[in-house]
Parts: sequence; structure tokens; C-alpha cells
Amino acid sequence: MTTGSAVGNNDVAVRQATRADLLAVSRMEKRVFDEPWSYSAFERFLGEPAFLVAEREPELVGYVVADSTALHGRSVGHIKDLAVGPEFRRHGVGRRLLREAISQLLLVDANSIKLEVRESNTAARQLYVEEGFEPFRRVPRYYSDGEAALVLGYNPVDA
Ligand SMILES: CC(C)(COP(=O)(O)OP(=O)(O)OC[C@H]1O[C@@H](n2cnc3c(N)ncnc32)[C@H](O)[C@@H]1OP(=O)(O)O)[C@@H](O)C(=O)NCCC(=O)NCCS
Repeated sequence: MTTGSAVGNNDVAVRQATRADLLAVSRMEKRVFDEPWSYSAFERFLGEPAFLVAEREPELVGYVVADSTALHGRSVGHIKDLAVGPEFRRHGVGRRLLREAISQLLLVDANSIKLEVRESNTAARQLYVEEGFEPFRRVPRYYSDGEAALVLGYNPVDA
């Protein structure tokens, strides 16, 4: 355990999400995002190998939702949602969730991985770039409040 940390890395387990996690996940989603996913949106990803939760028993501290889709004979992974509870941030949980989701996507043969991030989201952008994602497109007015998204890509060959 990291002395003085609100959440030490050893205290936190990362595992696949189950139905029993969905309420806590959707509650955290509402706290973290202005345009939160609904409970049923999360429900659709149950069973996905890269729908993961980070927990410090008995509490949920974060989650990531990712899947992969076949496109022109290739499998493209998509990180769709990532959040860590505000009180648990800056202790490496987001990085762990992201790395584990990437590993799971590569295990199911994703050839590349993409995600969208708000242009103003410097914290997430910093994390993604540190983990090997590169910006390849800007989509103006992607979010309903008019903000642009940056589309970032991860190529396992380059990473
Ligand atoms: C983005 C988020 C998941 C990061 O989670 P976290 O557990 O705090 O991340 P980590 O502790 O693993 O940080 C990893 C790196 O990301 C970067 N980072 C994280 N928070 C940051 C911040 N507030 N400002 C600048 N860089 C930041 C740092 O480079 C950090 O490494 P360091 O702590 O060694 O400097 C978290 O801030 C969050 O839930 N934000 C709100 C939801 C969100 O924006 N999700 C992404 C949607 S695309």
C-alpha cells in the first residue's frame, strides 16, 4: 500500500464488470459526466472482456468500457468510456484500467484501437498520449454542447 495515498495500487483490483457492478458504475457515471450513459447503455456491454471495474473492497473506484468491431476485415477496438471517482484520482487507477483494457482488446485480436476525447480534457489527453495514443482527427461539434472531439488512435505495432 502506498503510504498516505487515498488509494494505493495494491489495494485496488481490476476485473471484468458483472451485473452486480452496474448500479455503482452508473452512479459514478452520473457524478463524473455532464452527459452520462444510462444504466441500460452499460448493460449492453456486460460480457465484453474489456468492460472492467477497479474496486477497493467494497467500493468501486473506476471503470472502463471498450469493445471491438469488425471493419473491412480488421478488428478495431474502441475505448468508449473511462472514469475514476474524483476522490481516487492521481493514483494510477486510470492508467491501470486503460492498460488492462488495451491488453484485453489485443487478446481478442484488435488490430488497432481508437477513442474520442473532448478537446478540453487535458487530464485524459495526457494519459492517452503517455500510453501511446496519437491524435489523428478532430471532429468539430462532436459533443452536444458544441465541443470538438479529438479522435486518438493506438497502433500496437507502433506502441
Ligand atoms: C482521466 C481519468 C480517468 C484519469 O484517471 P486517474 O486515475 O486520475 O489517472 P492516473 O492517476 O492513472 O494518471 C495517469 C496520468 O494521466 C495524467 N493525468 C491524470 N490526471 C491529470 C490531471 N488532472 N492533469 C494533468 N494530467 C493528468 C498524468 O500524466 C498522470 O500521470 P502522473 O500522475 O504520473 O502525472 C480521470 O481524471 C477521470 O475520471 N476524469 C473524468 C472522466 C474522463 O474525463 N474520462 C475520460 C473520457 S475520454
